[in-house]
Amino acid sequence: PIVRLEDYRPSDFLIDTVELDVKLHPTETRVTATLTMSPNPSGRSGAPLILEGDELNLKSVSLDGRVLSDEEFEASPHSLTIAQAPQQAFTLTIETEVNPTANTKLMGLYRSSGNYCTQCEAEGFRRITYFLDRPDVLSVYTTRIEADRDEAPVLLGNGNLVESGSLDDSSRHYAVWHDPHPKPSYLFALVGGSLGRVAKTFTTMRGREVELAIYVEPGKEDRADYALDALERSMRWDERVFGREYDLDVFNIVAVSDFNMGAMENKGLNIFNDKYVLASPETATDMDYTHIEAIIAHEYFHNWSGNRVTCRDWFQLCLKEGLTVFRDQEFSSDERSRPVHRIAEVKTLRARQFLEDSSPLAHPVRPNQYREINNFYTATVYEKGAEIVRMLKTIIGEEDFRRGMDLYFERCDGTAATVEDFLTAFAEVTGRDLSHFARWYEQSGTPRVAVKSHYDEAAQTYRLDFKQSTSPTPGQAKKDPMAIPVTLGLVSHDGSPMSATCDRVDERGVFLFDKAADSITFTGVTSLPVPSLFRGFSAPVKVSLDLPNEELLVLLRHDTDAFNRWQSAQTVAMRLLASLSVDGSAKGEEIEAYAAALCSFIDQDAEDDPAFAALVMTLPSEADIAQEISQDVNPDAIHRARTELRQRLGTACSRRLQRIYDAFTDSGPYSPDAVSAGRRSLRNACLDLLAAADSRAGEALASAQLESATNMTDRLASLSVLTTLPGQAREDAIAQFGERYRNEPLVIDKWFTLQAAIPEDGTLERVKRLMEHPAFSISNPNRVRSLIGSFAMLNQVQFNRADGAGYQFLASIVLRADELNPQLAARLLTAFSTWRMMENTRRKHAEEALRSIAQKPNLSRDVGDIVSRSLEES
Ligand code: ARG
Ligand code: ZN
Repeated sequence: PIVRLEDYRPSDFLIDTVELDVKLHPTETRVTATLTMSPNPSGRSGAPLILEGDELNLKSVSLDGRVLSDEEFEASPHSLTIAQAPQQAFTLTIETEVNPTANTKLMGLYRSSGNYCTQCEAEGFRRITYFLDRPDVLSVYTTRIEADRDEAPVLLGNGNLVESGSLDDSSRHYAVWHDPHPKPSYLFALVGGSLGRVAKTFTTMRGREVELAIYVEPGKEDRADYALDALERSMRWDERVFGREYDLDVFNIVAVSDFNMGAMENKGLNIFNDKYVLASPETATDMDYTHIEAIIAHEYFHNWSGNRVTCRDWFQLCLKEGLTVFRDQEFSSDERSRPVHRIAEVKTLRARQFLEDSSPLAHPVRPNQYREINNFYTATVYEKGAEIVRMLKTIIGEEDFRRGMDLYFERCDGTAATVEDFLTAFAEVTGRDLSHFARWYEQSGTPRVAVKSHYDEAAQTYRLDFKQSTSPTPGQAKKDPMAIPVTLGLVSHDGSPMSATCDRVDERGVFLFDKAADSITFTGVTSLPVPSLFRGFSAPVKVSLDLPNEELLVLLRHDTDAFNRWQSAQTVAMRLLASLSVDGSAKGEEIEAYAAALCSFIDQDAEDDPAFAALVMTLPSEADIAQEISQDVNPDAIHRARTELRQRLGTACSRRLQRIYDAFTDSGPYSPDAVSAGRRSLRNACLDLLAAADSRAGEALASAQLESATNMTDRLASLSVLTTLPGQAREDAIAQFGERYRNEPLVIDKWFTLQAAIPEDGTLERVKRLMEHPAFSISNPNRVRSLIGSFAMLNQVQFNRADGAGYQFLASIVLRADELNPQLAARLLTAFSTWRMMENTRRKHAEEALRSIAQKPNLSRDVGDIVSRSLEES
């Protein structure tokens, strides 16, 4: 069945309070739900009461204290219907039994390393009890959890702890938690287990004391310190920047090792994939620390953007996710380097969201239909959703943005809102009509903006002609022009300031481009400028510019906008890589000019901002190049092209690279701060290029670094360089690393990933062998994604093998995983979203693999949905 936005109607019943009594047991957990309910005045009167369930085992139902007979209701594992429901307030009591040990889908109540935990978003609560499991039904929850004291000494729920104690004459104990804030069922959570704890007290801006605690596997407490610190910084930041204060006496975070996604913002009880909590210099890289900080912030920020203001229905998912990603990105930018963080965001946006937008899985930021909502927790909803919020801020300005946010939070607090409610707040505070802008939520596909420039030397004017278009996407053949904020400026060839003006560009340098074509003219332009367009990546569009490489490279040297300095070098590199891949043409002079520009950049600027320099020195990935070429893609040719350019670059700059490599030797104790991390990333970028230029020298450098490294960042970077150099040294290094970290699953994940990404013929066999490794488990999402997900997503040449073996392998794993965990299987399957852009032979093999999946009976809805959309003719 397909769910459609236009079919939305309010629930016929409301649930005011929920009392849950959960008696934890490994295989027979008893759940008693007591619901105080009433007909919804805005629902249909006299409608039957239909509660959702999923694989539930019903034990009893009572209405107002009277046990119902079998004739008075109808029940199946997936629904409970009372045809003649009362027309006034009533109390419904439902007893169900669930088996958390058998729950391999990791939705609802399940066990991870023996601990009990829950995941209810989007529709997991119905796997615990029958319910109106939809985000617009808000209730006040009281949860009583009972368990064996030995098995689960720690018992956690939403809200504040109100009572706890032992049961007489038994090994069991209990805790009662009460959450005063009405919430939808997807924000429910409970945890029971044996866990270590770190904690500190936080005093809010109005002087409330809050106990912050993080629970982890016993013995790993010290690895939670960084996350705890990030939580405190997030709370302070949300007070300062958005005026948002926390609203309970405790804020708990629990790390679990089996988790489908990154983390979950359950009210007062966030549950995290442990890879986004646990960190130590020995086991985590700088990138891990960055992600931990961002995700801790993200889940905390949901307390307002998601929990206090939630979503009316799942079509509004971007209302909380896009906004919260925007908020966490702003936090990270303030805590770290704004331009460096912005570049990293855009890299992921392009790699994941632009890819999705050009694939058979393309959908609007607010989709208007779905078969399986879990398949819409996508880069489009999250990352493009965040870009829309950022564009809104760019268009209306910082002050009005804050006023609009304040109005939105105030007006929608305690409600289940829509994208319209959000935009209305900004329309009201600015008096602007945002209806054209709202198209960003409706129209899928990445707009293309083509720009042509004309300089009139005599008149001293400079004209820019803009054109926009968007290619058709599934279900949307015709496209309309979008409201695109273009932040821009003119740069002179020698970097001297330009005083040109244009009345279409406001004082912040923003031009709103909202027609199919438009032109703007600058006056007082005394010399030929280079246009710096989409500064800071002001809109999620693809840009094509009619400028030659040497003019673009002026921006690398002279632009005041760091993003465009980086972008200009990337654009030139991409042009070279694409033409090298397509016709193998040498382009000798152009490559030399690019290498010369990079060498002088390294000389002059690298040491001033090492993190930024490392980004400039990193070439577009093979997947990026494939996306740029976008048809008849041959991954082998792309791999050869990128290897060649790396080698040319490394050779041209080798003296400078070596000098920085030697000068940036780490000293002193490890610190994950952005400045120290930047130094390491520059040094490791140098190592990568040095090894590309000279594999013998590279092997020696990398081996030495692997030996002497004092932290995981440097160790992994050197091992990663070694994996590009076939031979015994590499195999020994891989084996030693695996041995050293055999008891550290999160490090073994990195080890799996490195090996899965080796661009050589033997890799598929290696991946299959690693599936036999004792640390691997097909039921643990982190393991599966590290080994198999990385193979499919990172290893362009081997996943897309010309003989189709990579595709067949992934198809077989998807089918196996689907029997245990459909969400995980569906995620893996999205690796096929690039299949239509491949050259003929590969395309045929990919299609065969997809069809072999589609033909299987009993596919989950998750996999069935992805496979059928992937095969649909667009
Ligand atoms: N709301 C979570 C977040 O912070 C994501 C949870 C999605 N889970 C799922 N099973 N679809 O982004
Ligand atoms: Zn989120």
